[in-house]
Amino acid sequence: MNAPGTAIITGAASGIGAEFARQLSAAGHDLLVIDKSRDPLESIAADLAARHSIVVESLVADLSDPIQLRRVEQRVFAIEQPALLINAAGFGTTGRFAEIDVERQIEMINVHVVAGVRLCRAVLPRMVSRDRGGIVNVCSISALTRFPESATYSATKAYMLTFTEILGIELEGTRIRVQALCPGLTRTRFIDTPEMQRFDRHRLPDWMWMDPADVTGASLKALRHGPVRYIPGLANRFYVFVFGNTIAIALLAGYRRARAHLKANVPGFRWLP
Ligand SMILES: NC(=O)c1ccc[n+]([C@@H]2O[C@H](COP(=O)([O-])OP(=O)(O)OC[C@H]3O[C@@H](n4cnc5c(N)ncnc54)[C@H](OP(=O)(O)O)[C@@H]3O)[C@@H](O)[C@H]2O)c1
Repeated sequence: MNAPGTAIITGAASGIGAEFARQLSAAGHDLLVIDKSRDPLESIAADLAARHSIVVESLVADLSDPIQLRRVEQRVFAIEQPALLINAAGFGTTGRFAEIDVERQIEMINVHVVAGVRLCRAVLPRMVSRDRGGIVNVCSISALTRFPESATYSATKAYMLTFTEILGIELEGTRIRVQALCPGLTRTRFIDTPEMQRFDRHRLPDWMWMDPADVTGASLKALRHGPVRYIPGLANRFYVFVFGNTIAIALLAGYRRARAHLKANVPGFRWLP
């Protein structure tokens, strides 16, 4: 029987990336796991290697750093049988673009976009020559909506969504599957960082949240036959249906303009949220 090949996963020390590592190792894949935090990464790697008798290599790297990314890219390029690439490393920030640290926004572009694109380019030649493989780029439903305080985040996710959809067109007729996974709120450490403190998770009802195991399980199932743009969960699909269409985006923009105008011109105005 053919070995299932190596799954390469960034952001594998936590959340969605760690869950991909769990599910793919249980399916018999060897793993190359990449993250910037050594201890959690090595602990997951050791646990999965022992549990499933597979080979797990861990690579500690900050993907926002061009030199460290180049090292990862070279390692990934050398893998002879890349079965899957999962680009899951990422982080969020809150705050209006004019007021937040620009260097951190550039780091975000480097992790979400530059690393994602470079690693796709590193695995694809072998996948094309073997006519097999799969790529999941973890995007977000934020790629499809327009809300303030997420300019760079939403734009990087929109880049990866478009990029992946066009890769899908270029790879039509091959056995290589690609997916732009667009999760909504997912119970991970993502929103527990100091940078996301202003995001109040308790304002949002429980039904809007998914567990990372459900997100990744649905993603891997959809990777076989599903659409390139994949939104897991009914609540997320409904959210995108309501807020992600051009009419809703235009209406919300008009509402914000009207509210700003009233606030500026009507003394004591306060009755619109
Ligand atoms: N959770 C959500 O609600 C949600 C919704 C939509 C999309 N997503 C996307 O899902 C992906 C996974 O996020 P998650 O929810 O699983 O969050 P998470 O639990 O924080 O996992 C993200 C992982 O990426 C790592 N990472 C961040 N910056 C990195 C860098 N410069 N180099 C290498 N690794 C880096 C983090 O390491 P450190 O912890 O050391 O920083 C962490 O281990 C992200 O791309 C995120 O944008 C999440």
